[in-house]
Amino acid sequence: MEDLVQVLSGLPMISHPDLLVGTEAGDDAAVYRINDDTALIFTVDFFPPITDNLYDYGAIAAANSLSDVYAMGGKPLLALNVVGFPQALAVDMLGEVLRGGYAKAAEAGCLIVGGHTVDDAEPKYGLAVVGIVKPGLQVSNAGAKPGDSLVLTKPLGTGIITTAAKQGIAPEDVLQAAVDNMAALNLSASEAMVAVGVNACTDITGFGLMGHLKGMVNGSNVGANIRFNSVPLLPGTRELLAQGAVPGGTQRNLTGVADVMQWHSEVTEEEQLLLCDAQTSGGLLISVPSHKTDELLSKLQEAAVPVAAVIGEITEGPVGRIQVTA
Ligand code: CO
Ligand code: CO
Repeated sequence: MEDLVQVLSGLPMISHPDLLVGTEAGDDAAVYRINDDTALIFTVDFFPPITDNLYDYGAIAAANSLSDVYAMGGKPLLALNVVGFPQALAVDMLGEVLRGGYAKAAEAGCLIVGGHTVDDAEPKYGLAVVGIVKPGLQVSNAGAKPGDSLVLTKPLGTGIITTAAKQGIAPEDVLQAAVDNMAALNLSASEAMVAVGVNACTDITGFGLMGHLKGMVNGSNVGANIRFNSVPLLPGTRELLAQGAVPGGTQRNLTGVADVMQWHSEVTEEEQLLLCDAQTSGGLLISVPSHKTDELLSKLQEAAVPVAAVIGEITEGPVGRIQVTA
């Protein structure tokens, strides 16, 4: 992935007066002003099967793609299927994936209006999504301010649990809880944060909590403190990690944040891995002014989001540095 980062940084930096959010701060969606009332949010995401149940896979991939619109405080309107599928596999298997995706998009009030399929040795599925937001109300990952509380809206552990499932060691109920967690939309969490008014947000996906927080502190020129014991984990995550379910991505995430982390001595190596676990369709990480934290938490609880946990806060610095205590 380091090589990929180098290739991308060699591309021209796109800027335009109407491009309100581009690639400069590492946001996952672009925001483009059409007029004073409306800006477009534009994003795409897709990945190979995360679970054996194809309908669930489709739903999770769609929820994950829609999430980048929710992280910007927007409303998804239209989507296109992005599909890679092996010719050798039965097409009704693809139908199952797509049905899961359509059901999830319908739940979000987003219309899937077509798409594109290519022959591919390994299946892949996701959506390109267009959403809208009022210009100026978009939430990027670059606005976090010292003193903000950091609020997380889904527990961690989906990387470890899905890896354990591939190894055949994940209990059925543990896997089902992880699947439900990944398939849950970030819709109501996004609505709550927009109603309250927050400084920054990102959704937690492949780079894990620490990787996405690294993007936020770098984009915002701030530091952060995280308390391990305040970070919610899916049931079974710790046990499965102890049994050897360590995703390659999680291991790489831990290495990828090493330059910015200050792990206090009481935080074990296992706990460091837990905070770096590569998530699929994870929750929102919201940076909210401290005087609005209680209002955000009660709105999130009313909306019955999976969790509403204050896991730490934004600091003045050292800029780009993340401290983790027990
Ligand atoms: Co994304
Ligand atoms: Co994202």
